[in-house]
Amino acid sequence: MLVVLFLLSLTSLCYSLTVPLKARDADTTAGPGGYAHTHPTDLMIHDPSVIKYGDKYYAYGVGVYINIWESWTMDGPWNLTGSLLDGPAAINKGANTEPWAPNTIQVGDTFYCYYAVSEAGSRDSAIGVATSSHPGPGGWTDHGLVLQTGSGVGSQQYPMNVSNAIDPTILIADVPYLIYGSYWTGIYQVPLSEDMLSMADPQSPDATHLVYAPQGIHPAEGSFATYHAPYYYLWFSHGQCCDLNANALPAAGHEYSIRVGRSMDPRGPYLDKDGTDLVNGGGTIVYASNDDVYAPGGEGVLNDGQNDILFYHYVNTTVGYGFNQTSMGWNFLDYPDGWPVATYNRPSTSSSSYFW
Ligand SMILES: *[C@@H]1O[C@H](CO)[C@@H](O)[C@H](O)[C@H]1NC(C)=O
Ligand SMILES: *[C@@H]1O[C@H](CO)[C@@H](O)[C@H](O)[C@H]1NC(C)=O
Ligand SMILES: *[C@@H]1O[C@H](CO)[C@@H](O)[C@H](O)[C@H]1NC(C)=O
Ligand SMILES: *[C@@H]1O[C@H](CO)[C@@H](O)[C@H](O)[C@H]1NC(C)=O
Repeated sequence: MLVVLFLLSLTSLCYSLTVPLKARDADTTAGPGGYAHTHPTDLMIHDPSVIKYGDKYYAYGVGVYINIWESWTMDGPWNLTGSLLDGPAAINKGANTEPWAPNTIQVGDTFYCYYAVSEAGSRDSAIGVATSSHPGPGGWTDHGLVLQTGSGVGSQQYPMNVSNAIDPTILIADVPYLIYGSYWTGIYQVPLSEDMLSMADPQSPDATHLVYAPQGIHPAEGSFATYHAPYYYLWFSHGQCCDLNANALPAAGHEYSIRVGRSMDPRGPYLDKDGTDLVNGGGTIVYASNDDVYAPGGEGVLNDGQNDILFYHYVNTTVGYGFNQTSMGWNFLDYPDGWPVATYNRPSTSSSSYFW
């Protein structure tokens, strides 16, 4: 333990000596490993989805019929204001009363919430979508199934026959794309129809394989897409997520961390900083365990009007590693050299990015 701490402090010392002045300024509050401290919040959540609408932030997370929280600031207080669906998701599989990893986006005047129904360790999953003219509770229409894996119509053809239909995210470029996937063979992208309620061509999905973790249990999931000119960025969570046993933690570095790759083409390939394709195991780490923050992941990005904000869930090592002990933390994003860096302080240059 002492050796580890010593190594960690050496690492951070080296970091502070070698990083350029600008990055060091932004990181005056950096913890061990050179990662900026998180901004903790009172929002207990998994795989947060957060958007800003008007002066308010709305957060979406797993819960009965999908929980919605509202806050005036990212820091909270986050008030649970209701549920998104009026009843179970209109998909007859999985835990459809508590859809997972909702991802809410605004396109024009319409809010779309993509959600997943599944069960732990199962590939018998599906992604559905609900829409509304307002981001808060009430008034959502559930359109049900977009794509499914494991069983049901369409699940026998590629890539649905090799993937797990959870963790939906959207990228809108020439056409809208759904990006999804967890473990097994990784993360895929399929074009959606113009109304974004179904696959563009269910008979011939025209999928692209974007992310694959070759090692072990193939731990890549929780993707999110952003655009910061001139690149599309594909974010994902690598490693073991949550509900961990404090006495049997994964080897250091095998827990969740937030990784990214970028591409000029929305269809990829997405390459990391070393030029490795994410589908060949690439992924540049943007945020990982540091100080009392452990296993950050399930991330997303928003813009607060000035800067991009990276948000994610993590467990606090001084509190516990249980499934219901994850809370949301966040950092600003800066883009030196076009690669995102998580900072504690607001960067001096604003960022204009797109999210879906
Ligand atoms: C959340 O609740 C607190 C306490 O009642 C209140 O002051 C705050 O305005 C509420 N936040 C929102 C976004 O409504
Ligand atoms: C998945 O389906 C494709 C056809 O869409 C087929 O060529 C491929 O062999 C299938 N893979 C598995 C593992 O079943
Ligand atoms: C972790 O929990 C401790 C004790 O409640 C608290 O003081 C600390 O601020 C927390 N840290 C984070 C990053 O949540
Ligand atoms: C979290 O789970 C533990 C054990 O599963 C339980 O004892 C505890 O009450 C739960 N806490 C919350 C806040 O739900």
